Amino acid sequence: MRPSVTCPSVDWPALRAAATAAMRRAYAPYSRFPVGVAGLVDDGRVVTGCNVENASYGLTLCAECGMVSDLARTGGGRLVAVACVGGNGEPLMPCGRCRQLLWEHGGADMLLETVSLGIVPLREVLPDAFGPEDLAGARGSGQGREHRSEERARSGAPRGSDQVIQ
Ligand code: THU
Repeated sequence: MRPSVTCPSVDWPALRAAATAAMRRAYAPYSRFPVGVAGLVDDGRVVTGCNVENASYGLTLCAECGMVSDLARTGGGRLVAVACVGGNGEPLMPCGRCRQLLWEHGGADMLLETVSLGIVPLREVLPDAFGPEDLAGARGSGQGREHRSEERARSGAPRGSDQVIQ
């Protein structure tokens, strides 16, 4: 396993405890797979969520959906660190869709406690992500493409890797 990123200002045990408390509120009668998640916001507050299932299975709301709703409802801001846990209180990886939700509200630098990589920035588990900057680029400002180049430079991706191969 690679060494984890350490961020002394994040109380990871407390964040995991908040996620575990949220997990205990899960409504998961169909899968019997409760999930809880907690996020530290850039103003210091903690937002949480749990999964809420539905008899129409596909309508299930993942725990992260509840957390981003809590984020918006309590004043918005940016997620800086997130811990997601399963029924045993141990780390659980957010599904692909939920990584995209986290990207929207936390971005590339948001720290995530993972199952096998330790604590890593979101860019490591959602590389080359689609995000709001791509929409800006599509509007003709060119910002999207510039953002992508900068993002690759920061993440160590090879120069020119955002060029289209014809
Ligand atoms: N689940 C989440 O809440 N978050 C994830 O990132 C992965 C999956 C929930 C959805 C469903 O209620 C249960 O876990 C089993 O898939």
